[in-house]
Amino acid sequence: MEQQEAKKVIFSGIQPSGELTIGNYLGALKNWVKLQDEYDCYFCIVDLHAITVRQVPKDLRRRTLEVLSIYIAAGIDPEKNTLFIQSHVPAHSELGWLLNCNTYMGELSRMTQYKDKSQRYGNNIAAGLFNYPVLMAADILLYQTDLVPVGVDQKQHLELSRDIAERFNNAYSPTFKIPDPYIPKAGAKIMDLQEPTKKMSKSSDNANSYILIMDPPEVIRKKISRAVTDSIGVVKYSDEQLGVKNLITILSVITGKTPEDIEKEYEGQGYAQFKKDVAEAIVSELEPIQKKVKELLSDKTYLESIYKNGTEKANYVANKTLRKVQKKMGFIPKK
Ligand code: TYM
Repeated sequence: MEQQEAKKVIFSGIQPSGELTIGNYLGALKNWVKLQDEYDCYFCIVDLHAITVRQVPKDLRRRTLEVLSIYIAAGIDPEKNTLFIQSHVPAHSELGWLLNCNTYMGELSRMTQYKDKSQRYGNNIAAGLFNYPVLMAADILLYQTDLVPVGVDQKQHLELSRDIAERFNNAYSPTFKIPDPYIPKAGAKIMDLQEPTKKMSKSSDNANSYILIMDPPEVIRKKISRAVTDSIGVVKYSDEQLGVKNLITILSVITGKTPEDIEKEYEGQGYAQFKKDVAEAIVSELEPIQKKVKELLSDKTYLESIYKNGTEKANYVANKTLRKVQKKMGFIPKK
């Protein structure tokens, strides 16, 4: 019991707003699997975040369970970790509002992800897209989180979470633990296969830009063979060759080989065999996960038992923090 209490807390989540890509897998999920023994982990399916962009209800429902299945299939043990759906724990929305009143418009308008997305969606931007980093801060702060394993694109949001927590602690009294980001050395930013200056994203319009965790093997092979490279013809981990560099990163994170080893292995060979091997590495990494996801999705009762269990624990911990915050801000406690 002592040991359980001494464990540090991890919180992370993925939005069920599209099909998950190998960016989500290599930048986040694969690392969670490595951390689960050492930490008390909360892994959430952040459905409230997904609705910052309009979702088709039945797709949101399907994807929410698919993301849960992917967590488990990738190796997150539901017995050891708390797996739950964000909307099942109302404290996220409640703390989100309280923190919104402790966050400045200026801070939110500096968020690069908001700036990028608002450019893409023009005038039809939901207020939720602007406020979304505050909900993310609430997610993290509710669990007195020590560490947040994410890809590099979430770093700025995490810095904001820290600022909000520090400001609250100073204005009232110490309430929140200040969370640290945990960004992997390799794989923290998997790039778009067609435009390797951009991050690979599940919301891209071009399906050749990304590989989905659930893409069948023949699709993976086709997408990798079409991945943009260059005319240099040398397998080199270099900023002059962003497409090739990205493929080396993918191969390296999956196989554990260093980029230098990979460069040596393909010396004098051009790109054909290299690309084939990258595709096969991805296929053999994803095939067992895909099989397990399909099995899990056919057993809704099991999935339900997992998220119900997770919700119970998450609600308990989250409500403790929420009550503290409410009390400190001057709300009359419910008896
Ligand atoms: P989301 O759903 O966009 O992505 C989930 C995770 O995948 C990582 N990721 C990538 N990593 C490497 N290369 C890529 N191309 C790539 N694309 C995505 C993301 O960095 C993230 O770790 N706001 C978050 C979800 C969230 C959250 C939280 C995360 C909500 N609340 C609390 C941590 C803690 C998001 O939109 O991630």
